[in-house]
Amino acid sequence: MHNRRTFMRLAALASGGFALSSCEPSDRALTPARQKADGLQKIDGPFCLSTWRHGLAANEAAWSMLSRGGMALDAVEAGVRITEADLSNRTVGLGGMPDRKGRVTLDASIMDHDGRCGAVAALEHIDHPISVARKVMEESPHVMLVGEGAYDFALSQGFERSRIEVPVPEAAAKYRKLLEENAYEVEINAENHDTIGMLAMDRQSRMGGACTTSGLSFKMHGRVGDSPIIGAGLFIDSEVGAVTASGLGEAIIRASGSSAVLEAMRRGAHPQEACMEVLERILRKQGSEQEIQVAFIAIDAQGHYGAGSILPGFEYALQSESLAELYQAEHLKKR
Ligand code: GLY
Repeated sequence: MHNRRTFMRLAALASGGFALSSCEPSDRALTPARQKADGLQKIDGPFCLSTWRHGLAANEAAWSMLSRGGMALDAVEAGVRITEADLSNRTVGLGGMPDRKGRVTLDASIMDHDGRCGAVAALEHIDHPISVARKVMEESPHVMLVGEGAYDFALSQGFERSRIEVPVPEAAAKYRKLLEENAYEVEINAENHDTIGMLAMDRQSRMGGACTTSGLSFKMHGRVGDSPIIGAGLFIDSEVGAVTASGLGEAIIRASGSSAVLEAMRRGAHPQEACMEVLERILRKQGSEQEIQVAFIAIDAQGHYGAGSILPGFEYALQSESLAELYQAEHLKKR
């Protein structure tokens, strides 16, 4: 499956190609020696992989299901709910930053091994958009519901309007400052974790994926990013693997990001190489001086995994029987 180029690249990575974060020292980030001990990024048995440092806590919840023989789909939903419930997180759940109208609108998607999927976009006042996305998948004839329709559907499925007043005070303060500065874009980096995307493989080698976010800070009202769009923010094909994305949604949608990574794996690329190939394409087509961050994590049906980003600072969390670690991803550009 792996050609010589893939092997050489991965051998280079395993022997120290991963840069340690320049953003903050982390006693959880792995050294190159530990990377090497992992072999060519392959796990035998169940595991889960998540974006950013908040992925560590999400993985823990997912792992408590996977380790007991639970389904990948249940594990990813349980995992990202931890991040959605964390009101100190400014890019996921109701603690997230508002749009330009001061409204906190949430996007989420979920997908399983059989290609079933569900998504919500611009959903307001619901604590767990990922669980509504799952209901869309399981209880509706559709794949995606948005805005008021998604909210009404959530209520019809037994979800309650959240008691959390949004934006939460810290997000409201930042929002007021942004309004004063009329700043449209907020940098997506290691301090401003963007999106939780999680992929899991269970004991039966079934895959599941989930992706949930409050989207770009200070976005136009009605803006939807990549996270709820199947093929952009999340994609699974049981014959090949699973992919999810983080970063600037517009760039990811333009490239059909997760689908593009998956198709590279279908051609035989290792997930690591597939992520870097699509990131290079996005960077090449960007065609401007504007710095953007895009990141992917990917697994294949044999248990290989990979992750990469355009800019430094992207971390991903991996949990398996023997590992619960935070890795620095390979990246294309220096700052
Ligand atoms: N990747 C999240 C967003 O752009 O909304």
